[in-house]
Amino acid sequence: MSFLGYLFRDVAVDLGTANTLVFIRDKGVVLNEPSIVARERSTGKVVAIGRDALLMHEKTHPGIMTIKPLANGVIADYEATEELIKGLIRKTQTQFSFGIRKMVIGIPSGITEVEKRAVRDSAEHIGGREVYLVAEPMAAAIGIGLDVNEPMGNMIVDIGGGTTEIAVISLGGIASGESLRVAGTDITNSIIRHFRKAYNLAIGERTAEEVKMRIASASKLDKELAMMVRGRNLVTALPEEREVSSPTIREAIATPISQIINSIKRCLEVTKPELSADVLDRGLFLAGGGALIKDLDRKIHEETKLAVHISEDPLTAVARGTGKVLEDLEKFKTVLLPTKRY
Ligand SMILES: Nc1ncnc2c1ncn2[C@@H]1O[C@H](COP(=O)(O)OP(=O)(O)OP(=O)(O)O)[C@@H](O)[C@H]1O
Ligand SMILES: [Mg+2]
Repeated sequence: MSFLGYLFRDVAVDLGTANTLVFIRDKGVVLNEPSIVARERSTGKVVAIGRDALLMHEKTHPGIMTIKPLANGVIADYEATEELIKGLIRKTQTQFSFGIRKMVIGIPSGITEVEKRAVRDSAEHIGGREVYLVAEPMAAAIGIGLDVNEPMGNMIVDIGGGTTEIAVISLGGIASGESLRVAGTDITNSIIRHFRKAYNLAIGERTAEEVKMRIASASKLDKELAMMVRGRNLVTALPEEREVSSPTIREAIATPISQIINSIKRCLEVTKPELSADVLDRGLFLAGGGALIKDLDRKIHEETKLAVHISEDPLTAVARGTGKVLEDLEKFKTVLLPTKRY
């Protein structure tokens, strides 16, 4: 390593709506924390970032507010996004390193030119000297280990918190694809709405997330599940506990699940026949936290007839992919996204 190599780091970031992951060259994914920033309301001072801020989320007093700087995969609050990336990178730094040289960032494929520009500006603003952008589904495919440069169709579906990225990739580019702004957060919100409507019970986001992770499913389970859920009764205004079952939750989340599956079908409809044949041959690869919804793979298989593979460690696929791009920019130059200079 050169002298500068000791002082500067090359980092890759999966800036997600739900989680932000940081990859450092030669080290791998070193950090995976929720995309949340907590601020003191009066001064605007950042008091916590990532996991520490999540613990405060929905449990704050009026003096502190928590912010999710990203919504649907794009930056909703620039300042908070910069604080988030800066804070997380700072957490990874040793006393000998003080700057960032190369930086690769994964962004949703449906992002506008202005949104792209904003991500690049933020990265440069926090000190990235060379900033490269790569589409998230492309990064996910690379992270999974698919050879994206070959003349062969690979289908990837990355179900994150804010966006579902669907893409058929061939020759280092996205041949057909869709960036749907329906994903994990909508599934969580459907659960919250269900409790409110069916039982007059207000439940928090963290509780709904827990329900989703423990018992939500996309199709009938061999052994149906149930769990106790606590919230506040909207009529009596008192705390209350009640049992819910997996079939009920399945029904509650049916709309976002079918929106995701319809989007996969639409993408297949516009895929060129030769690439379709490849996809039929190889199947579809699921990534992102949404890939972990029980029996979603089976449901997608039933509706598309494709073999469905859940990628190993789906929550880190994009981060690992951006990391591979960072470590071999020459090999992956075709996947880098250009941004216009204004
Ligand atoms: N075991 C699980 N079962 C169901 N959903 C899960 C599970 N684990 C995580 N999730 C959901 O996955 C989502 C987060 O996934 P991920 O980290 O891939 O999203 P992200 O990259 O932050 O978002 P985006 O790519 O949309 O910007 C959250 O909505 C979370 O609730
Ligand atoms: Mg993601």
